[in-house]
Amino acid sequence: MSKTPKQPQIATLLEGLPYIKEFFGKTIVIKYGGAAMAEAELREAFATDVVLLKYVGLNPVVVHGGGAEITDYMDRLGLEVEFVHGLRVSNAQTVEVVKMVLVGKLNKDIVLRLNRHGQPAVGLCGDDGSLFEVTKQLVPDGAGESLDLGYVGSIERVDVDVLNHIAADYIPVVASVGADREGQSYNVNADEAAAAVASALGAYKVVFMTDVEGWLADPDDSATLISEADVGTVRRELADGKVMGGMLPKLKACAEAVERGVSYAHIVDGRKPHSLLLELFTDAGIGTKVRPADE
Ligand SMILES: Nc1ncnc2c1ncn2[C@@H]1O[C@H](COP(=O)(O)OP(=O)(O)OP(=O)(O)O)[C@@H](O)[C@H]1O
Ligand SMILES: [Mg+2]
Repeated sequence: MSKTPKQPQIATLLEGLPYIKEFFGKTIVIKYGGAAMAEAELREAFATDVVLLKYVGLNPVVVHGGGAEITDYMDRLGLEVEFVHGLRVSNAQTVEVVKMVLVGKLNKDIVLRLNRHGQPAVGLCGDDGSLFEVTKQLVPDGAGESLDLGYVGSIERVDVDVLNHIAADYIPVVASVGADREGQSYNVNADEAAAAVASALGAYKVVFMTDVEGWLADPDDSATLISEADVGTVRRELADGKVMGGMLPKLKACAEAVERGVSYAHIVDGRKPHSLLLELFTDAGIGTKVRPADE
């Protein structure tokens, strides 16, 4: 005799159903990084979540950074690590390490994990299929001049043709490096890369996984989580210079994606196992949601 399923389990499945209907066939870009990439248990949970998204008919596209591991390898090589406004200062040696660690190691680790969990994945970086065209990023210093962060790139153009080909059968996994027209490689912030990919694909959502609860009004107080904000509010806070560190490129990326047609951008706590599924398929919603201005 088969066991009668427990009510809470059925309730959970039923709670997910309207979301599965809403997202079916839609593209969800996931920026993977921070804690969810650093801990073995969280890495497995993340892979399970992404594979599940593909199985229930969504089109997940992963874009990843790898800040912690790049820093670790730079330390091992005795290279200096420096961040300005949340961006890694990148000389020629730094870019070489970034490319090796992101493309050679982390990208393949993610691909392998997704494969093992039952959905084949294909890894690529901005160079593959000319996905990204990058130019040197000029960062304003606040006094009318530009700061030189070295080979830190901005994405000029995204050609999603290669992604669309891959996504028909596989989960694309994109490492956030790319080159300019002369062939010089650049380190690209993964939040910016995720926003560029999401807008170019016309994604429904972009989800940024990070190692805090979300956007905090006071970075030192997790009780000050901003659970929802429209893009105008985000732009105002950015212009007021109130956003610091790694949250700066992340919130900029949220604003850019939503301004360019992505319906919603989310920042979720990647330290919580299965935060991706919780955000997408439950009523609870966690983290910060950035919505268009006119809602
Ligand atoms: N207002 C704020 N709210 C939340 N976090 C903030 C805020 N201001 C600064 N931060 C910092 O931003 C960090 C998140 O960005 P960070 O670049 O370090 O991680 P990530 O982008 O998730 O990972 P990675 O860069 O490795 O891909 C937080 O750990 C926190 O220290
Ligand atoms: Mg970051």
